[in-house]
Amino acid sequence: MDTLIVNGGRALDGIVSVHGSKNSVLPILAATILNSGTSVIHNCPKLRDVDAAIEILKYIGCRVTCEDGCVTVDSRSATNLDIPDKMMREMRSSVIFMGAVLARLRRVSLFAPGGCELGARPIDLHISSLKALGALITEEGGSIDCRAGNLRGRDIVLSFPSVGATENTMLAATACTGRTRIVNAAREPEIVDLQNFLVSMGADVSGAGSSTIIINGRKPLHDVEYTVIPDRICAATFMCATALCGGRVRIDNVIPEHVSTLTSILDGIGCRVKVGKDYIDISREGSLSAIRSVRTMPYPGFPTDAQPPLMALASKCKGTSVFVENIFDGRYRHVGGLIRMGADIKLEGKVALVYGVKQLFGCPVEATDLRGGAAMVIAAMAAEGKSEVSHIEHIDRGYENIEKSMSRIGADIKRVIQV
Ligand code: UD1
Repeated sequence: MDTLIVNGGRALDGIVSVHGSKNSVLPILAATILNSGTSVIHNCPKLRDVDAAIEILKYIGCRVTCEDGCVTVDSRSATNLDIPDKMMREMRSSVIFMGAVLARLRRVSLFAPGGCELGARPIDLHISSLKALGALITEEGGSIDCRAGNLRGRDIVLSFPSVGATENTMLAATACTGRTRIVNAAREPEIVDLQNFLVSMGADVSGAGSSTIIINGRKPLHDVEYTVIPDRICAATFMCATALCGGRVRIDNVIPEHVSTLTSILDGIGCRVKVGKDYIDISREGSLSAIRSVRTMPYPGFPTDAQPPLMALASKCKGTSVFVENIFDGRYRHVGGLIRMGADIKLEGKVALVYGVKQLFGCPVEATDLRGGAAMVIAAMAAEGKSEVSHIEHIDRGYENIEKSMSRIGADIKRVIQV
């Protein structure tokens, strides 16, 4: 497995551009099956999870080509409706193919994506919503067989605004007769992006970004060309990196509203933040004060995915920062690595108390998961001395060549390819 070698202690300087959103492009790639035609998707990041989604599309029978961030999917010949366990396990969001394949082929047989590094991650809300739309679903030892039955639109009330369950319901609802109304829907920008993609394809979907999404199903769908939004978590990672390492960085290709909770935190602890139309300038010179409290919440609250990089930053802020992780119970796995580097963090259930230290020290650490891995990288960039970050396959799931973009703004970071 590849590793990253980081020589820490350099202030950052320069311009970095944010790639397309992983969490947008994955459901959009699944949705390309719906039109029985061609979808051209621009600003598609080169990530391991995107490769995994493309493999599933090809397995299903789609023709897929990728060139310079543009993925073209021809879904006319999609006929395979059983997705193997191995492909399902490759990434959690393979579950979104459930709603998409069901809508297009009226049957799908796949496997539960299982637990992951963030905890149990059940899919009960996905299953109950599709059942409520009329799908006939049987589950046996991890395998899930889903038949369309008589798919009819109706009100689906989610007990929690799950991002994935909202997406699966939207996709399945495009094949329902009549109107589906998703109540307590997730409001994440990626849901809006999926709606915009579906609308560009001819679907009748509205309300995304609010808690109620309405889908009038069975509209004729056509070929589509679409550009994915920038990745807000990638932008958040660059922002935290700059605040932690010091210096001055322009982060280009951002939708500032998508990172506004982080912007106000960084502004409040002593960073200089200038927000442009599609960029953010961030600089930090002196020391930063602690973050009073951060509670991860569904959007527009503070994103759980930005919690690990922000905690890496908090480890060097003066005073005590308080984190409350409300979304995933296994989302503190990066804490061990930060402590190894010299951070002073106490965990108690959902709460992490981060007592700021003067200095972090480079050492061998592991990327335990995608965002925890990003936290290790930026902590190593700020630490004194050399670090080796292992298991970076997790980081490659969601950051396109993290070493290249961080080097571009002055970090000393190299990938060592293990053969
Ligand atoms: C998506 C994002 C992920 C982000 C998360 C929360 C993608 C590809 N991934 O994941 O990066 O961290 O949103 O913003 O977009 N839950 C249930 N039952 C379900 C579904 C979810 O109990 O059927 C729980 C989960 O265990 C978790 C919470 O709801 O505790 C949020 O999960 P959800 O919003 O569904 O996250 P994902 O769609 O998996």
